Amino acid sequence: MDPEVTLRRFHLADLDDFYVWASDDQVSAWCRWDTYTSKEDLLNYMNSDVLLHPWMRAICYHGHPVGAISVTPFTGADSCRAELGYVLASQYWGKGIATKAVKLVLGKVFREFEELERVEALVDVENVGSQKVLEKSGFSKDGVLRRYWIHKGKVKDMVLYSFINPYPLE
Ligand SMILES: CC(C)(COP(=O)(O)OP(=O)(O)OC[C@H]1O[C@@H](n2cnc3c(N)ncnc32)[C@H](O)[C@@H]1OP(=O)(O)O)[C@@H](O)C(=O)NCCC(=O)NCCS
Repeated sequence: MDPEVTLRRFHLADLDDFYVWASDDQVSAWCRWDTYTSKEDLLNYMNSDVLLHPWMRAICYHGHPVGAISVTPFTGADSCRAELGYVLASQYWGKGIATKAVKLVLGKVFREFEELERVEALVDVENVGSQKVLEKSGFSKDGVLRRYWIHKGKVKDMVLYSFINPYPLE
């Protein structure tokens, strides 16, 4: 394991660090949420979503939170799947941090979620950086979902990636 990149749970005390990427238009451009312009709104989001999320971790670089990564399990008949998401503060882009974080996650989640067989990620066809992160982490490209969702007013094509459980029970 690379000691430079570690994962841990979030605390409310991470508000100021979280605000660095949450208030950055370059980051939010690729995300479902809109850029945060108030720490109070972000605090509410941390209380209502981040701290209650089934599996969200701070990506720490030399022990300091610089991003977030989450695995959201589906339920019922879909509980063999979970969706991966991640963001990184723009000043830390291009250092291999996201790739290391994704690899760390893949080493943990299949052991933590018993029924999990597949982690998937949906990436905008134009988000080349995120596609490279997934490919370097061992994900396979399943295909392109055309005109799949409306992102900030534009209908987008999305690439579906998956990583299959390397420790299957059967
Ligand atoms: C996507 C993101 C997490 C990548 O983080 P990162 O730590 O810079 O990624 P890495 O350094 O691990 O990059 C992995 C590879 O992608 C390449 N890459 C990263 N950003 C790139 C870009 N914008 N264009 C082209 N290649 C890019 C890197 O050069 C590296 O390739 P290399 O090892 O061959 O040089 C970061 O840019 C980000 O937070 N973006 C905004 C939010 C987002 O898009 N989240 C994902 C939504 S699906």
